[in-house]
Amino acid sequence: MKLKGKNIVLGVTGGIAAYKAAELLRLLMQEGADVHVVMTTSATRFITPLTFRVLSGHDVLTALYQEELQLGEADESGVEHIELIRNADLVVVAPATANTMAKAAWGLADDALSTVLLTAGPEVLWAPAMNHRMWKNAVTMDNVARLKRLGHQMVDPEEGWMACREHGKGRMADPIEILDRVVELIGQPQDLDGVQVLITAGRTEEDLDPVRFITNRSSGKMGVALAEEAQSRGAEVVLLAGAMDVPAPDGIDVHRVRSARDMSTAAKRLFPKCDVLVMAAAVGDYRSAKASTSKMKRTKDDLSIELKANPDILAGLAKSRKGSQLMVGFALETNRAVEAGREKLKKKNVDLIVVNNPKDKGAAIGGDTNVVTLVEAGRAARKLPVLPKRDVARRILDWVVTKRSKKRKSGKSSVRSKA
Ligand code: CTP
Repeated sequence: MKLKGKNIVLGVTGGIAAYKAAELLRLLMQEGADVHVVMTTSATRFITPLTFRVLSGHDVLTALYQEELQLGEADESGVEHIELIRNADLVVVAPATANTMAKAAWGLADDALSTVLLTAGPEVLWAPAMNHRMWKNAVTMDNVARLKRLGHQMVDPEEGWMACREHGKGRMADPIEILDRVVELIGQPQDLDGVQVLITAGRTEEDLDPVRFITNRSSGKMGVALAEEAQSRGAEVVLLAGAMDVPAPDGIDVHRVRSARDMSTAAKRLFPKCDVLVMAAAVGDYRSAKASTSKMKRTKDDLSIELKANPDILAGLAKSRKGSQLMVGFALETNRAVEAGREKLKKKNVDLIVVNNPKDKGAAIGGDTNVVTLVEAGRAARKLPVLPKRDVARRILDWVVTKRSKKRKSGKSSVRSKA
């Protein structure tokens, strides 16, 4: 799923290779991309918009004005070209005719696709397909060079037999080759390929009686962002989740628990199999010493509840860890945040502590952004700016990737030095 979370606009222009665009669409979607198709009028003569609509699951943009639409080309909601571009990571034009490239090179916008292209900026990948004489023509070569100068990318056409029964360079590149270029340009690096990552998320709940419990305000968003980011980088993710306000991501092995002790038992079982543990769950430090099996009745008197300490899951796991396992903990601190984080790093014996202070602007519990400081041994603390939680997850996993590669290198060099 190298293109998971990526939005692509696929422009299809009129040429015999238009049918191959359906195959390209399938390949892009197979890698997790969300694809919107825009067609020129002449493309609709080679392949119907309905084909792309069914395959992509979205309306197909074929005209600038509603009254130009053929029945069935787009529904009433229509698709706005500006809206498409606003969300797009890349526009891929495959097949691309000399005509559409010429229009884009000179800023002409007289149909849906050329208008999209003029709005797009340089994030465009062209897969030209045309008669070899058209491709070799000085004007086309000039337009190709001009588009490249503007920052556009090309997957050059191939040599071979053409639909016009001539031999030469002009056949559209294989859809697989186009897919590879898309992945190269916007794909997610698979730098955690096959790495077993255990992530804890959400909050624990400790029963006082059958209807009441102690918990905290953690939403689970940070842990879910970590799970999604790790998965998109090729990791094999196990999510150990308490209560959360967000759904667990699809395609991830999820284990649900309620109390800190449940989480501890599950973590002990799952930890030996993982290469990396990221403990983002907000674990309750205390539980009721004697949870009542029936509903506690109101009395006139004040009530004191005796609390018993829960196990420190992270510190416990650190004691059992094998040499190569990496451990990341979080620390929610409102005073002397970095110093307190450094103390936790030592006390819990982990490799990284991600400190956050909910009093910081943009770091509120349950919010969509976070402000964190990365604290590790032997290095100055690094405070990151306010970032969406997915970007915080990316930075934490970047750290994991770097740390793993350093560990591997130092492991190798120590083997070499022993030899
Ligand atoms: N943690 C844990 N088990 C607990 C409490 C916390 O594994 N019983 C983990 C959290 O998931 C987090 C890290 O330890 O990764 C720090 O959690 P935090 O609540 O900030 O710290 P505490 O250890 O609970 O210490 P304090 O509440 O005194 O700050």
